[in-house]
Amino acid sequence: MGEGAEASDRAPGATGVAVLRRAQRLAAAAAYLGVGRHLPWSPRPGGAVARRARALSARWMLDACGDDVNIEHGAWFGSGKGIRVGDRSDIGMDALVIGPVHIGADVMMGPRCILLASAHETSRVDVPMNRQGFREDRPIVIEDDVWIGAGCIVLPGRRIGTGSIVGAGSVVVSDVPPWTVVAGNPARIVKKRRSGDRLPEAVQPSVPPPVLDAAEVRADALDAEASRSGLA
Ligand SMILES: CC(C)(COP(=O)(O)OP(=O)(O)OC[C@H]1O[C@@H](n2cnc3c(N)ncnc32)[C@H](O)[C@@H]1OP(=O)(O)O)[C@@H](O)C(=O)NCCC(=O)NCCS
Repeated sequence: MGEGAEASDRAPGATGVAVLRRAQRLAAAAAYLGVGRHLPWSPRPGGAVARRARALSARWMLDACGDDVNIEHGAWFGSGKGIRVGDRSDIGMDALVIGPVHIGADVMMGPRCILLASAHETSRVDVPMNRQGFREDRPIVIEDDVWIGAGCIVLPGRRIGTGSIVGAGSVVVSDVPPWTVVAGNPARIVKKRRSGDRLPEAVQPSVPPPVLDAAEVRADALDAEASRSGLA
């Protein structure tokens, strides 16, 4: 049998899986956007059930969804395509997440955060901006054990390093090094969280973290940490 015949033999199966996956995602998105998103936030009476329902939808919507995630009341993340959330991580109350966004493990997110990986094209001045389309998406990466305070905005392509804290109301316009506390608009380092040269056992990067290029994320964090150790 020729190559073309083999390819056409394989295609229907692969297409079938893709169609099924898409249908599953759309059904879960409809359930989430129509019902789950409006259920009470998790500390409220009935919140535990609401939390489980949202997590179930998320499992079918997101590109990858860890265990015990907490998608809070009101969070909006479209169909979930391009978004990965690691074990025990949150998407906070009333968040707006436009992917691709890769969230590691043990990430906490306060209410009303906005994570934007896309932006309008504005390079031409002879065409109105609303007719120039979009720039290429630049994924946001949030590494493990990060706390993003209430009302933060994270701009396209930014990486927030392991163990960092982003103060309430901050606008993250550049990468956040691991183990730092940043705050303000634009977010600047206000303090460092630790002074040792090794990662504490309790917060070793998750293996395998459910983010894209997990090895790269981990290596970058360790490289950054190594190069920073003189600053600590
Ligand atoms: C970032 C944060 C954790 C830092 O707390 P902290 O370790 O006690 O730090 P401090 O209050 O000592 O602040 C250190 C410096 O950063 C500044 N700072 C702290 N948070 C800031 C913020 N959100 N925006 C701007 N500056 C901030 C302080 O003014 C201080 O500056 P100074 O040294 O010039 O006086 C805290 O301020 C914060 O924003 N928490 C988020 C709360 C939240 O969103 N909760 C929602 C529940 S998930």
